[in-house]
Amino acid sequence: MTTRILGIETSCDETAAAVVEDGRAILSNVIASQVEMHAQYGGVFPEMASRAHVEAISPVVAQALREAHVDWDDLDGIAVTYGPGLPGSLLIGLNFAKGAAFGKGLPLIPVNHLEAHLYTHWLTTGAEGAADGNLTFPLLALIVSGGHTELILMRDHGQYEYLGGTLDDAAGEAFDKVARMLELGYPGGPAIEKAARQGHPGAFEFPRAWLPGTYDFSFSGLKTAVLRTLRRFNGPRPRTFAADMAASFQESVVEVLAEKTAQAAQAHAVRAVVLSGGVSANTALRLAVRARLNIPVYTAPLTLCTDNGAMVAAVGTYRYWAGVRAGWDLDIDPGLRLA
Ligand code: KG4
Ligand code: ZN
Repeated sequence: MTTRILGIETSCDETAAAVVEDGRAILSNVIASQVEMHAQYGGVFPEMASRAHVEAISPVVAQALREAHVDWDDLDGIAVTYGPGLPGSLLIGLNFAKGAAFGKGLPLIPVNHLEAHLYTHWLTTGAEGAADGNLTFPLLALIVSGGHTELILMRDHGQYEYLGGTLDDAAGEAFDKVARMLELGYPGGPAIEKAARQGHPGAFEFPRAWLPGTYDFSFSGLKTAVLRTLRRFNGPRPRTFAADMAASFQESVVEVLAEKTAQAAQAHAVRAVVLSGGVSANTALRLAVRARLNIPVYTAPLTLCTDNGAMVAAVGTYRYWAGVRAGWDLDIDPGLRLA
């Protein structure tokens, strides 16, 4: 018997739906991104994100079913992200999922967005560096996205221990804010990574918040240092200024993330490390973590690093098998945590 789950994701600025078989095989993965709309404002505008989800959700789900060549009757359940995320965005996906599950007589499965990012590693993609589900516990996960920077110890399916996280900005948020300061565009992560390739990481000396004895992170001091340097160079700037700033900033973020991940992996004698979330698309970060460890460090293909429905369907399948069902009173939980 195969299990087919529809995953719905609207926690931030992507309206996404996917059908996944047995928690592994991606039958379809449709993403309507609002990046171009938000790029005009240099960031996500919650009210507009919510409206765009309203317009996109129905066609995106229909397309996911069509591309998977399945009908509602072929599904075993509907998994939906109920937190963490933007309240107005989460509501659209959750209400759509509730309506569809009720109307079609399917079980509704509640999904934590952070857990979904981890379960990208159980999807079969065949991409270089991907785990494709060949994972043994305990695992260490570094979740780095626009909203989160967390080190999580995963002892088994559904068993998490929070080791540390950011005290201020998320890593992706720092990338986005610094890209805006450097006028490199939105989303900032890919823009900084691209600019950094032409720059010299040693050009500017930016601080690293080590916060010794913890697995916590802080990026606000780094952001301020970037701003101060920008003010200092307010006249004519060297030709390589933006590229050098991007490279030096990226190196500072990557070094702290990679070093703390390696320390946590060693301290907890994990079998493997998984990198998840939008910032894990960053090549410099992938290289830096791999260079510090001699255990497998798994990464997902770029389209699965950022928000998508397949990861929601993947974790939804495991929860479905474990008998987890949401009631019709399931509400959004914008501040939901993993552990
Ligand atoms: O996981 P995600 O799509 O959304 C959240 O759940 O937040 O992550 C989006 C974040 C953005 O801040 C974006 O700038 C960052 O991931 N990002 C990157 C890269 N690609 C996306 N950061 C650094 N390097 C990249 N290549
Ligand atoms: Zn995310």
